[in-house]
Amino acid sequence: MAQDDVFKKLVAHCKEYGYVFPSSEIYDGLSAVYDYGQYGVELKNNIKKYWWESMVLLHENIVGLDSAIFMHPTIWKASGHVDAFNDPLIDNKDSKKRYRADVLIEEQLAKIDDKITKEVEKAKERFGASFDEKKFRETNPRVVANQAKYDELNARFSKALNSSDLSELRQIIIDNEIVCPISGSRNWTEVRQFNLMFSTEMGSTLEGSNKIYLRPETAQGIFVNFLNVQKTGRMKIPFGIAQIGKAFRNEIVARQFIFRMREFEQMEMQYFVRPGTELEWFAVWKDARMKWHQALGFGEENYRFHDHTKLAHYANAATDIEYRFPFGFKEVEGIHSRTDYDLSQHQQYSGKKLQYFDPEKGESYIPYVIETSIGVDRMFLQVIAAAYGEENIKKDDGTSDIRVVLRLPSFLAPVKLAVMPLVKKDGLPEIAEKIVHDLKFDFNCQYDDKDSIGRRYRRQDAIGTPYCITIDHQTIDDQTVTIRYRDSMEQERVNISGLKDIIFEKVSIGTLLKKL
Ligand code: GAP
Repeated sequence: MAQDDVFKKLVAHCKEYGYVFPSSEIYDGLSAVYDYGQYGVELKNNIKKYWWESMVLLHENIVGLDSAIFMHPTIWKASGHVDAFNDPLIDNKDSKKRYRADVLIEEQLAKIDDKITKEVEKAKERFGASFDEKKFRETNPRVVANQAKYDELNARFSKALNSSDLSELRQIIIDNEIVCPISGSRNWTEVRQFNLMFSTEMGSTLEGSNKIYLRPETAQGIFVNFLNVQKTGRMKIPFGIAQIGKAFRNEIVARQFIFRMREFEQMEMQYFVRPGTELEWFAVWKDARMKWHQALGFGEENYRFHDHTKLAHYANAATDIEYRFPFGFKEVEGIHSRTDYDLSQHQQYSGKKLQYFDPEKGESYIPYVIETSIGVDRMFLQVIAAAYGEENIKKDDGTSDIRVVLRLPSFLAPVKLAVMPLVKKDGLPEIAEKIVHDLKFDFNCQYDDKDSIGRRYRRQDAIGTPYCITIDHQTIDDQTVTIRYRDSMEQERVNISGLKDIIFEKVSIGTLLKKL
């Protein structure tokens, strides 16, 4: 199936099964804003719990914070967002569509990279075990030519971005014959800078009002509370502050469903370290965060690091963790070594000292910061994309059918088990209801007695429920039920009294956290 079709199916599946709805849908929606339905909110909460516990529960030296969305406007001046949180935009005069100039060029780079990857994959298949990828990349004329093209374009692009040279960005688009995907034309406007922050007014006009911003990242709430937490928690460096919360960006190009939204949620952790040790900690967090992703079991080959060559002015190292989405490898999380930039800026703009007294060194300094920053919604999309599957299955009458299944890791699944009486009589519903009543204190359970058992299994597969418990007539005799596993579709007979322990072991967050 074409990857575009896979993505369309994913979006449709999320709507049909109560995961994600377009916001304000009855009013024709609001661009790049989405609502989470009955299953979506559960999955989102489970993702947040996985992140939160991996930070705050597993690390004695990481604590949480919940800072306000509205903050003093000078914070955004100090952080650089008022002056520099811009995207370069360009319009196509024929389609009247607006694009990010840097994204158009990145897509061009990705196309060249794809060509190289395909060539390498083909050769790998042809030569099998004897394949020497390094040598192939160095000698195959097509790969060498494309690599040179890639490097040249990338170097020119990085230079233009680093120097904020907008006319050069436009020239790169022209020289590389990049066309508008809608009109197919190369009739481009100049490139302009566009600030991504939403603003509003605080206070009434009578008493004078203040322009304030909806935070574009949660991180600044952590920086301005750094000393509050350090002092009240008597934290010793190195220590971290973790926060989950909403962020807002007026994205120019808001496409690809919940990948790029105007209102979204972030999970950010700032790790405060001694100056000079930041690159060691950067490596530690790079490793830890990759492990966190890979523990979900979606295949190590689907993740990669993308180290930044173009560094923001405040960073001395940065990388993205990318996942292979249906539309290619894309960033899910950013890990940045932010130096002492943010705290120094806030110290300067607020006039308040933001220093830490290091008892071991006997001196005060502004700590350096390693940041891990991941979007909840983007992680949600990654999980759904990885979990979605369609498979051909043979029916009892010999014909085949397509089974749609969300292979969500059990801990993340919105519903952990569905309890189903085989028929709606003979006392079976009562036994099923009792099981739900007994287990609902520990797990999100669903009672389901509508339609044939096969259709019920399918419905639960599509929701991603990992376990279905079926009560049949044998249950009345021996107090056993069948447990049906979503992924293998295998069934096992177990005692009702053992259900809680069996399920607990499989869905417990502890099982997942122990892999980290
Ligand atoms: N404090 C650093 C920071 O905000 P970022 O790379 O701009 O860094 C971090 O964002 C993460 O937030 C991204 O890796 C992505 O997962 C998520 N994110 C950023 N912009 C987003 C958007 N418009 N919609 C959804 N998620 C977004």
